[in-house]
Amino acid sequence: MSFDVSRIRAEFPILAREVRGVPLVYLDNAASSQKPRAVIDAVSHYYEHSNANIHRAVHALSEEATGLYEGARTKVADLLGAASAQEVVFVRGTTEAINLVAQAFVRPRIAEGDEILVSHLEHHSNIVPWQMLCEQTGAVLRVAPIDDRGEIPLEGYAKLLGPRTRLVALGHVSNALGTIVPVQEMVRLAHDHGAPVLLDGAQAVPHLRVDVQDLDCDFYAFSGHKVYGPTGIGALWGRAELLDEMEPYQGGGEMILSVSFDKTVYNKVPYKFEAGTPNIAGAVGLGAAADWLRAHDFGALMRHEDDLLDYATQRAAEVPGLRVIGTARRKTGVLSFVLGDIHAHDVGTIVDREGVAVRTGHHCAQPVMDHFGVPATTRASFAAYNTRQDVDQLIAALHKVLEIFGE
Ligand code: ALA
Repeated sequence: MSFDVSRIRAEFPILAREVRGVPLVYLDNAASSQKPRAVIDAVSHYYEHSNANIHRAVHALSEEATGLYEGARTKVADLLGAASAQEVVFVRGTTEAINLVAQAFVRPRIAEGDEILVSHLEHHSNIVPWQMLCEQTGAVLRVAPIDDRGEIPLEGYAKLLGPRTRLVALGHVSNALGTIVPVQEMVRLAHDHGAPVLLDGAQAVPHLRVDVQDLDCDFYAFSGHKVYGPTGIGALWGRAELLDEMEPYQGGGEMILSVSFDKTVYNKVPYKFEAGTPNIAGAVGLGAAADWLRAHDFGALMRHEDDLLDYATQRAAEVPGLRVIGTARRKTGVLSFVLGDIHAHDVGTIVDREGVAVRTGHHCAQPVMDHFGVPATTRASFAAYNTRQDVDQLIAALHKVLEIFGE
């Protein structure tokens, strides 16, 4: 299968629209990607033909909806290379997955003075749940440093692993910079110290081949809306034996086998973590997104995104005063930068007038911004449907910014 970007683009209806009178150039994929027709159709088909609650009734629609929901679990398991669909818990997204691990796995196993290890690259969703846990338990948050490329030097990380490390939680790919973190090696080092590892794969699953068995991690989290799927749905993969040992995260319907006022018996994994009616349509859409990704030549998709990053980095060098923030040797398609003294929000507002959507701000990664001594960056982030022409339009829009600010 070859990679034909115009065919890919044709699958995304939104790319045909104009914004402010000009064709849309969507370069905010790290925040949320656009959806292919296959995902949109799967969600509307579910609502038009099969909508019902799941696991609860014997009627035909409920059986159909249950089949679609559980089918989606298998598709997600296949996307992640999981050994079994029962290791996949549907959640709202990466944030909920991390909070689930913090409260249901780590909290009962941690004592005052024990440690959680993260890195300086993390998104707030892989910092704040651990800070909350530390406040609740007296545990200590350790932070592996980063260097001026935006990489995590392994020596600095390894030094922080110790007998009190109860969990290591690492982003697989940095949302703010695009750094691909050498997580396989870091998992090995953590396991040498007996510490389990949670990987935040929100920015990795759309761009890299992820195989949780190869990575040998213990938990892996990602969000549907960044992998061409719907918002409000994501997955936590966990090793079966760890999920089995864990207490539920939330109580309610569906996560039980029986309830009385004397004793409640919890359901088995993964259902004991899915209290209440779940996001059934979201799961169906996520299953369709997993199918969509698996139907394409992933190697070609990665090469296409690498080419866009190389091209964008090269063209960015032509823009006077542009400084790229994050120059790791291995990156996904993220170009984060500052433009002279012009505030990122001004850059974002002006390029938007040219139809170019980028994200500006701290990207929910304020410690990363602090490391580089900037309050904010402008971030262009690529997906399968972007083209070199999109990059050209971004660069032309940046020249307009410079004209307006007289720089
Ligand atoms: N985490 C998302 C981003 O990086 C929202 O933009």
